Amino acid sequence: MSDRPVDLPGPPGPPDPVEPGRGAGPDEWADANRRQWDERTGIHVASPFYDVEGWLRDRPGPRRRERDLLGDVRGLELVHLQCHFGLDTLGWADAGAVVTGLDFSPVAIRTADEIAARAGLAERARFVCADVLRATEALGHSTFDIVYVSLGALCWLPSVERWAEQSAALVRPGGRLFLHDIHPVAWALADDAPELAYGYFEDPLPFVSDSDRTYADSDRSLLNTRTYEWNHGVGEVVTALIRGGLRLDVLEEHDWTVHQRFPWLVESAPGRWSSPPGSPRIPLTYTLVATRVG
Ligand SMILES: C[S@@+](CC[C@H](N)C(=O)[O-])C[C@H]1O[C@@H](n2cnc3c(N)ncnc32)[C@H](O)[C@@H]1O
Repeated sequence: MSDRPVDLPGPPGPPDPVEPGRGAGPDEWADANRRQWDERTGIHVASPFYDVEGWLRDRPGPRRRERDLLGDVRGLELVHLQCHFGLDTLGWADAGAVVTGLDFSPVAIRTADEIAARAGLAERARFVCADVLRATEALGHSTFDIVYVSLGALCWLPSVERWAEQSAALVRPGGRLFLHDIHPVAWALADDAPELAYGYFEDPLPFVSDSDRTYADSDRSLLNTRTYEWNHGVGEVVTALIRGGLRLDVLEEHDWTVHQRFPWLVESAPGRWSSPPGSPRIPLTYTLVATRVG
């Protein structure tokens, strides 16, 4: 299978021809994904895509759109779930939040600690190595003003219900959960044409992918090729968060994504990729904000 060169992440390869996920269970699904993320981290941290040295020099802070949505974060406590090696997390620290990043990759967490130290942010940033589906326990049942989740997160998780239970429990009264992720319609599209090729809804069995490519550096090959991934419909995500006790405030479906996820996308604005003019607009990412009231 070919991995498309960019985006966070590409959809999985074709479902296993015999039986999706055969021969492996939930522990192996998570272990295989973790092995690949450990390996990817080493590649990503050295990649021009993440440009860690440039980040340390420029300190760009959070994306403007996210800053506009979440407002002034000075003094707020923010947890970034599935933080990778922490650049977005540390951007929020630069904006004045006290931040915690959580990821299940020990390599990513070690790298995040190192970058925080180099950025002089170690006092206001801590990183915790844990599975997001056990986040509440790993974080000592703390709660936060902002639970932040960004691109390429939910597809690694078998159950959005379990993710929402954990994530919502981390939101303190009056606090908010922010999610910007790949739209499940985009996740379900074929590589080479805007046609549905994969399921839109959550399936208990994963899609199996065997790709040696990663979005941040198309010149490097991965040794740990196998991953297990899941799609989650927008309704499933929203309903799970409401069941978790949150109120939905914002749900925006975007006809853009941040990279050329599919070869047929065109750059519609700097850093935004959409369907070509004249063709049907397709949801490629979505943003959700939800609040714990009271
Ligand atoms: C695509 S990356 C997130 C990228 C992030 N938005 C960025 O640009 O840096 C997905 C992250 O999810 C993490 N991850 C995947 N499954 C996880 C799990 N079950 N628990 C915690 N982290 C997980 C991976 O280690 C990886 O760092």
